[in-house]
Amino acid sequence: MSFFLIKSILALFLLAAAVGAVTSMLTMMGKAEKKISPKTLRKIHIISGRLFLLLLLPLFFLGLRYWAKIGDQASVRAVFHAVLALGLIIIFLLKVAIVKFYKQFLRFAPVMGILVFGFAFVVFSVSAGFYAVRALSTDPTSSEEINTAPSEIIGSADQGASFYNANCLSCHNADTEDKKVGPGLKNLFKKEKLPYSDRPATVENVKQQLIRPALVMPSFTKLSEQEMADLIAYIKTL
Ligand code: HEC
Repeated sequence: MSFFLIKSILALFLLAAAVGAVTSMLTMMGKAEKKISPKTLRKIHIISGRLFLLLLLPLFFLGLRYWAKIGDQASVRAVFHAVLALGLIIIFLLKVAIVKFYKQFLRFAPVMGILVFGFAFVVFSVSAGFYAVRALSTDPTSSEEINTAPSEIIGSADQGASFYNANCLSCHNADTEDKKVGPGLKNLFKKEKLPYSDRPATVENVKQQLIRPALVMPSFTKLSEQEMADLIAYIKTL
């Protein structure tokens, strides 16, 4: 199972726990007529909160591991995800601390709980939601708007190597086909099919992956034609 799928499934349960915690809290505090006793609601709230914490820990460590692997090569979306996730963790821990130790601030706890839920929802949507929509909606065979026309420019594999080391190596091994974050790119053009999408291993399809990636890879839309040609020339030597 892919890293992103595992993380998305854990996050789905995390979101469900957040919904449980917030609705039980709102019903407890806000509804005049309660079908469920306040004691049970309190229990639901506490169990949901613990489940939330239990899921937050592996998600946090998976996220950290991903960052450690890719270094500074994150997409804007990944940065957004990480900042919001850290914000969520801080508010959540503060809220727990208030409820347990600093009861004089208890009146802030409900707002903080709602904020944690809001953050969890946004973090989930910009990542798991984004993958789901992209996986469902991108048609890898459509090449509209993308200029993948063969270029006249002759690439320099040396220049391409330094570009590759700075921009691709953090996720793609160059000396093996083993997976890092994405598939290893050794022998990429020597095979018939591309490793992820199974499309024919042509320069056009690789260019298309760089401009409009299949799933979670960051896109490289600002490459000049020369840089693109250098990069392709280098990958051909792998
Ligand atoms: C942050 C990690 C990351 C970076 C940086 C990255 N890639 Fe990827 N790459 C991936 C992942 C993950 C996949 C699997 C498909 C996807 O998610 O789009 C992939 C897939 C690919 C594929 C296979 C596409 C297919 O159709 O099978 C190629 C080729 C590729 N990347 C080339 C590159 C090149 C060249 C660079 C540098 C300019 C680069 N990648 C930078 C993560 C990355």
